[in-house]
Amino acid sequence: MTTTGGLVDCWFAVATSAEVGDAPTPVTLLETDYVLWRGDDGEITAVRDRCSHREARLSLGSVTDGCIQCPYHGWRFDPSGRCIAVPSSGSDTGIPPAAHLTPLAVEEHYGLVWLCPGTASGPVPHLAVDADPSFTRLNTGMQTWNVSATRMADNMLDIAHFPFTHVGTFGRDAETVVPRFSLTELDDTFYGYEYRVTVDNDGDAKAMSADERDTVSLEMSTGFAMPFSIRSTMSWDNGIDQVLFMTMAPITPDRSYYTFVLWRNDDVSETGSDIVDFELQVTDEDRQMLENLRGELPLHPGGVADVAADRASVEWRRRYRHLISGPSV
Ligand code: FES
Ligand SMILES: [Fe+2]
Repeated sequence: MTTTGGLVDCWFAVATSAEVGDAPTPVTLLETDYVLWRGDDGEITAVRDRCSHREARLSLGSVTDGCIQCPYHGWRFDPSGRCIAVPSSGSDTGIPPAAHLTPLAVEEHYGLVWLCPGTASGPVPHLAVDADPSFTRLNTGMQTWNVSATRMADNMLDIAHFPFTHVGTFGRDAETVVPRFSLTELDDTFYGYEYRVTVDNDGDAKAMSADERDTVSLEMSTGFAMPFSIRSTMSWDNGIDQVLFMTMAPITPDRSYYTFVLWRNDDVSETGSDIVDFELQVTDEDRQMLENLRGELPLHPGGVADVAADRASVEWRRRYRHLISGPSV
């Protein structure tokens, strides 16, 4: 990254809970490799993907009884990172202190595995909807996009691209003028804005809106939680409410993890897969646009031209500069 600064003390979703089982799972965050595995008690351990002996990749090893074994000389590490076996020494008496690994902070929320490489400066973004029994959660897989997470956050805070980037899904007849909006604390976690949009409601979009009309209008809000989490709420006039949570994690300056989670207040037993498919189509339109963009989004004021519709992005960039460089920026 250009500079990581306070980023190392943030939480990042690096895998879905479903992806991490009792086999080693490699992930890369902020250009550093980690390995995750789930122990017999269901808890996940995360350590650097680097054996303390000769730096072999532990993710190429195996997990037995909740302990990971290095593929090179067979050293074994328990879920707390302690080295518990050095086969060449014949017994547990030959384990030097430097053999032990330091586990990282890891938590599971909303079907996602969150990793903090440093010392957590705050909690994982709080989504109150997850505890609301009238909502059902729909998870999707973890994707890897060839674009900077900074450009993804900017995109997901932006509604001006709807009628252009999303012509293949919901944006064909969307209003091009973005009404003036003000930024506000949407709740204790997300900062952003509220607005009303009219969008196309063709094909799978009908499953999402639960409305048969070809055009629908809905109330939305879009907000961010630093550094790379965006939440959009959608309320259709028929009483359907949806929360879309999108989150990114920088693998490298121009490669990022991405996943989204949906919550709905209707019965999704029949429609859930169509709704997720539709959202994946929308997401793919963003991906095709963004993967043409090289490097990180210019962060300094004046680095890119901004208009009124970009106010949320401008504020996100201000806070991001502060996060990565300290309060003097
Ligand atoms: S490098 Fe891991 S046991 Fe030697
Ligand atoms: Fe988009």
